[in-house]
Amino acid sequence: MKTFRIRVEGQAADAEADSETSLFAAMARTGIEWRVSCRNGTCRTCMGLLLQGQVRYDIAWPGLSADEKEEGYCLPCIARPMADIVIAQQA
Ligand code: FES
Repeated sequence: MKTFRIRVEGQAADAEADSETSLFAAMARTGIEWRVSCRNGTCRTCMGLLLQGQVRYDIAWPGLSADEKEEGYCLPCIARPMADIVIAQQA
């Protein structure tokens, strides 16, 4: 299975995830701190901005509007990588 690099803006270390691993799980495994709460794509606590790459969701209704998805926002607790990722946490 292909492995993708997950780079978090402002963090020295990169995480790695295959296409079945959430961005958050990969970051946690690497020791990268990221705000998280529900872990099921509804609360939006974990929302981040994708600066590069693409993600997919197993659920049809992640808690993002179509506009937010278009603008590059994603929910790392349930987002799985489809390419190398660069992501920024929201203030
Ligand atoms: S932690 Fe709730 S949507 Fe990601």
